[in-house]
Amino acid sequence: MQPVLDYLQTHRGRFVDELCEYLRLPSVSAQSKHAKDVRATADWVVNHCRAIGLKAKKHATDFHPIVTATTPKRPGRRPHFLVYGHYDVQPPEPLHEWNSPPFEPTIRNGAVYARGATDNKGQHFAHLKAVEAFLKTGTELPCDLTFVIEGEEEVGSESLMKFLRQKKRELECDTVVVSDTGMPSKKHPALTYALRGVAAMEVTVRGPKADLHSGIYGGSVQNPAMALSQMLATLRDKKGRIAVPGFYDKVQKLSAHERKQFKRLPYSETAYKKLLGVNGLFGEAGFTAIEQRSARPTLEINGLTSGYQGEGSKTIVPAWARVKITCRIVPNQQPGEILLLLKKQLKKLCPPGVRLEIEEGHGAEPYLVSPTGPQARAALGVLREAFGHEPVILREGGSIPIITEFKKVLGADSLLLGLALPDDNLHSPNEKFDLTCFHNGAAMSARLWPALAAASS
Ligand code: BES
Ligand code: ZN
Repeated sequence: MQPVLDYLQTHRGRFVDELCEYLRLPSVSAQSKHAKDVRATADWVVNHCRAIGLKAKKHATDFHPIVTATTPKRPGRRPHFLVYGHYDVQPPEPLHEWNSPPFEPTIRNGAVYARGATDNKGQHFAHLKAVEAFLKTGTELPCDLTFVIEGEEEVGSESLMKFLRQKKRELECDTVVVSDTGMPSKKHPALTYALRGVAAMEVTVRGPKADLHSGIYGGSVQNPAMALSQMLATLRDKKGRIAVPGFYDKVQKLSAHERKQFKRLPYSETAYKKLLGVNGLFGEAGFTAIEQRSARPTLEINGLTSGYQGEGSKTIVPAWARVKITCRIVPNQQPGEILLLLKKQLKKLCPPGVRLEIEEGHGAEPYLVSPTGPQARAALGVLREAFGHEPVILREGGSIPIITEFKKVLGADSLLLGLALPDDNLHSPNEKFDLTCFHNGAAMSARLWPALAAASS
């Protein structure tokens, strides 16, 4: 083990340079103008995996390619673990809010700033570096590893869902390891045991056939922007409850034990408000902020568009208005059922004089697993060693669509060992990845394989 850890120590500088090279590739999965860049990034990952000694392959799909990379075949049976990550990133907009350009990685204050730095290139790159250390020092790995690094996580992982079913036999494994979540601070490494799911929808309200002069016609026709705003305003009540009939019917209650555990997590309301830049918090009455953002369902407007948005004024009644909505869902809510309930309510709310168009988006089921088994214990042990602090266990509010599929198709649980800090700005301008988290993450990964193999045999 020591040669592996020494190797990780010695080559830190090069690892950061390589990560920067990776971050320079604008692999934005949601934007068709970046389709070529997404492919080039998959190629980069394949080449990098080969260079560190893995057998790597790019798999074409209906959309963005998937990369798999496996440790060299050896005789004998050992535990098999998957390491999952995604090389695609969120759109970088708004560009003017970045202190350095999103695809020109820049090191400041011990962190690398770039889109995708923490979500997720930096995090799975730490695992690749750990495996490189085993392979390059000739240290025997006590397990077989398969990296699955996809290019559609930020848009719902549809291709990987198909791929899992096609490659079920090769991908069968004891556990999946994923670093694509967070930790409360560098002093609180974390094992995440639950994620929220998601249900997405785009709603368009259409009125007149074209934008109209608001002086000539305004007052005599329904205004689509007004109609949509009024509909949306009723979807949440003053107590922060989602006012869609049936929305909470299947929600599993939080146990007293779990609520007690949440209270033990580090949290300061003042620091939280400062982190987010708000002068007050808002959420569902009767729940703490930690519960609201990790274990309770929500409905959020992600984008709202209508009419003229350019410089100065333009007096029109817009022809249409559009909203992008996602609900975060918790056990035992189902994305399809939630979309159905929401659709029904929107139809009921839509006033005469406008037409409603609804397009369903991606969905992901919520994930919840017991954090008490031997593998979880092994993970907590290596988190403690690598970060030098007692780890915490937590639930998180974000979603990783493929996680529940790993369970369904491969029968494997996922160990979520996130390396993102609360101020890493995931999906926001100035995304960063702390280099201490990167290096500790690589050391954590190196220690994980012996511990996990021992726990799995
Ligand atoms: N890495 C995040 C998920 C995450 C972040 C989980 C922080 C827990 C803590 C992932 O890349 C992500 O953003 N997923 C999307 C999925 C969606 C597009 C289906 C999400 O949660 O919005
Ligand atoms: Zn993300």
